[in-house]
Amino acid sequence: MLGVPFDLVIFGGGGDLSCRKLIPAMYRAYREGHFVPESQLIITVRGQDELATVKDHILQKLIEFLKEGEYEVEAAQQFMTLVKPVVVDIAERNDSWESLRDVLSEDESRARVFYLAIPPAIFGLCCEQLDHFGLNHANSRVVVEKPLGYDAQSANELHSKMALYFDESQTFRIDHYLGKEPVQNLMALRFGNTLFEHLWDAKTIDHVQISISEEVGVEGRANFYDGAGAARDMVQNHILQLLCLVAMESPNKLNADDIRAEKVKVLKALRPIVGEDVDRHTVRGQYVAGSVGGKMVKGYLEELDANSTTETFVAVRTFIDNWRWAGVPFYLRTGKRLAKRCAEIMIQYKDVSHNVFPGNERLCPNRLVIRLQPEEQVQLHVMTKQLDCQDMVLKPVTLDLNLADTYDSNYSDAYKRLILDVAQNNAALFVHRDEATAAWEWIDPVIEYWREQGAPSLYRSGSWGPDASDRLLAEDGKSWFNAEQ
Ligand code: BG6
Repeated sequence: MLGVPFDLVIFGGGGDLSCRKLIPAMYRAYREGHFVPESQLIITVRGQDELATVKDHILQKLIEFLKEGEYEVEAAQQFMTLVKPVVVDIAERNDSWESLRDVLSEDESRARVFYLAIPPAIFGLCCEQLDHFGLNHANSRVVVEKPLGYDAQSANELHSKMALYFDESQTFRIDHYLGKEPVQNLMALRFGNTLFEHLWDAKTIDHVQISISEEVGVEGRANFYDGAGAARDMVQNHILQLLCLVAMESPNKLNADDIRAEKVKVLKALRPIVGEDVDRHTVRGQYVAGSVGGKMVKGYLEELDANSTTETFVAVRTFIDNWRWAGVPFYLRTGKRLAKRCAEIMIQYKDVSHNVFPGNERLCPNRLVIRLQPEEQVQLHVMTKQLDCQDMVLKPVTLDLNLADTYDSNYSDAYKRLILDVAQNNAALFVHRDEATAAWEWIDPVIEYWREQGAPSLYRSGSWGPDASDRLLAEDGKSWFNAEQ
């Protein structure tokens, strides 16, 4: 199916998301032959001034955001011939919509992908206009990305408004973490190998850690971020999606409906954290000034230039109340301005039931580490005998199932993969409305409780978050994986 022409319309095409992520992704797809020359990349802009300059702007941004070695003058020139800017006034019912119709292919068998890189407040309106002007044909799909609501209720209002014009089967909600190669590899590891699947439950697994740490602060997004905070920005979506992929049962088939149904079951089995349990099972923090990667950086409140109780760090202990996972703690953590940029899932197996090696006081437990970034890696930590040693001395070694050696991970691009999936009508890596709702319903009471509690704990930029985060695991006799490296 790859290599079939389609029309991609990016509303807000000259904006940051489009220039930073979407257009570079399509350039890569073009160079790999997946975005074929008969396709069109239609960019909507707001007025004639922008129309005159947007192609130059896009080209400059393309050069800026491509990785070293990716930009190639001739390829970029050819690619730019597929880019067609059009003025569309989303708020008005005027002729501008007709100019969009004029550019779109009339061939109804050809996929039409509307990517809404515009503020969520106008997602519904944009869908309504597309419907009103009859641009939503049977092969049309709409793509949106968070923030999709603020809580379960506002998210439902947004989904319901869009659903008036686009069916659920036409609606693709992006969580860019699902487009990352190692995340998909997690499914391959789990369901393509007997080895892991037989060792994937409360009988063998001691606990699971899912951690996304960032070195960056909130940068130019302080205003948006302050209304969201780490729980809405990262936990409700990326972290819970990763948790679902670790914890879900095998889908009957690898198709969107089956996978998403399994994920919803996990979300519904998450033990609610309500009232004072929020204090027991969660930690929230906000960074103050410190040093990250050898550079002094400002605190959150200085960046925001205002007072705020918004959290930039979250740690949670949670349980999945079902047969497979009964009693296994899942520790979730994310934060900005932490010591190191890293996203990983660490599955720790139980200690051996009886240690037969004298002199080896504690054997390191087996661990499966799936690292998404900075490098894409899968590692298995096992114990082996130390070589050239008369005694039976054991030491931990790491088996590297290194993805970067088998393909050029430098060029793997979540957005490219996801947009091509939309064009092929493959929703397996997109979030169903029911998943989004279940995730909000779980996180809402936590955020609500925090709101009544005032300021979060402070942590120094460049640290691993508030001390309370370490204590959360220490209470269970465990520690964050990074603390041991
Ligand atoms: C986004 C969040 O969804 O993910 C950002 O809004 C965050 O705050 C980003 O920085 C992290 O994505 P990645 O792919 O860089 O880990």
